[in-house]
Amino acid sequence: MGKDTLTITDNRTGKTYEVPIQYGLYPTYGASIRAGDLRQIRVSEEDFGLLSYDPAFMNTASCKSGVTFIDGERGILRYRGYPIDQLAEQSTFLETAYLALHGELPTGKQLEEWVYNITHHTMIHENIKKFIDGFLYDAHPMGILVGTVGALSTFYPNAKGILDPASRQKQIFRLIAKMPTLAAFAYRHSLGMPYAYPDNDLSYSGNFLSMLFKMTEQKYKPDPILERALDVLFILHVDHEQNCSANAMRSVGSSHVDPYSAVAAACAALYGPLHGGANEAVLRMLREIGSKENVPEFVKKVKAREALLMGFGHRVYKNYDPRAKIIREIAERVFEVTGRNPLLDIALELERIALEDDFFVKRRLYPNVDYYSGIIYQAMGFPVDIYPVLFAIGRTPGWLAQWQEMLLDPEQKIARPRQVYTGADQRDYVPLQDRR
Ligand code: CMC
Repeated sequence: MGKDTLTITDNRTGKTYEVPIQYGLYPTYGASIRAGDLRQIRVSEEDFGLLSYDPAFMNTASCKSGVTFIDGERGILRYRGYPIDQLAEQSTFLETAYLALHGELPTGKQLEEWVYNITHHTMIHENIKKFIDGFLYDAHPMGILVGTVGALSTFYPNAKGILDPASRQKQIFRLIAKMPTLAAFAYRHSLGMPYAYPDNDLSYSGNFLSMLFKMTEQKYKPDPILERALDVLFILHVDHEQNCSANAMRSVGSSHVDPYSAVAAACAALYGPLHGGANEAVLRMLREIGSKENVPEFVKKVKAREALLMGFGHRVYKNYDPRAKIIREIAERVFEVTGRNPLLDIALELERIALEDDFFVKRRLYPNVDYYSGIIYQAMGFPVDIYPVLFAIGRTPGWLAQWQEMLLDPEQKIARPRQVYTGADQRDYVPLQDRR
């Protein structure tokens, strides 16, 4: 092999430049040049220098990260090196959250302390309840979550100390602990039901189910299969490297705002139907299709560009999303408790037809994480509106891991992309009476 450099000839000037190529962990993935090295390529002294133009960051690495590895061609997803299927099989959500944030699996003692600290930060200030009360009964829970998680920053002014490791740790406990409480309160508000306070005797996922579904009983007993299924769903959502909401978290966090405000921004990014809102959109789509017989007609509409097949396609995966595979397996276990969700048959038929159709095969469109998750959530009794909120709970440790990694990376600065200006050249102001 030759030198690890790239030689560029600028045909405008005939000059040649040599720029270094750097690598990540794998020589076959992550080889990059620094965009800044292009700036020396200029036609004159006044020239600003060459920029790389990359709308939507299709081929730009914005950071170095050790949290998550994805090989979209082969359908591989690993957190800190551990394959997602092993974590889904053997870990818990809180243990995986620890792994994402600390880089290593915890020892028994570390795990015990971690779980204790998160369990003991689940309460929210009573004033937050008044805040939630102010929302309309049909307010989307994701809108409530964006508002209330941002509002938490005003309750914890010390959270501004983002460069203090102890403060950071405290806000990490609080955010992972309080997201389910905010989500459950938002849900109960939409039903006009009294809020159910956290129960520290239950697991993270068991407590969340309790805060959602507890009625008049003294103690809510979650079904162990559903509790485990929800925990695994949270594990599958922990992180997904530089996706839209992680990028929002890093970008907003790079201004050194407190993490509650940055998580509010990440939640807002997740809310959109092309990101975490897709699970909700899948369910609405399946309901609209209505029966297996209508699937071919719907596929025709997708191919005519009149609709999107929600839950299909991914910027990175050009193969089956490994999370979707695991979710399909969980669905079977959940349905043994809840009964089969009839929408599953429509989803399976839609997947079967799509995977055989040239339109989808050519574009390498496969089911993504959102395709089957909504069907499970529905079977478990979650209302459709809350699906993106479930995604947000699972993704919170990932956002925090990305945020912390960004803060500790000496190469990172406030995020500030360049642009290629296409507007008007300089011109003189025209007084109102002279304008046509
Ligand atoms: N249904 C129909 N056609 C599609 C779909 C789809 N779901 N996704 C992509 N395509 C087509 C697209 O029209 C384009 O065709 P052409 O090249 O002929 O113009 C081609 O496939 C490539 O798509 P793209 O839009 O350039 O791909 P992207 O990387 O910009 O978009 C995506 C990725 C996830 C936004 C897109 O696939 C999509 O809109 N999917 C539906 C929404 C969805 O399920 N989102 C959840 C993503 S996974 C969880 C998460 O990260 O939040």
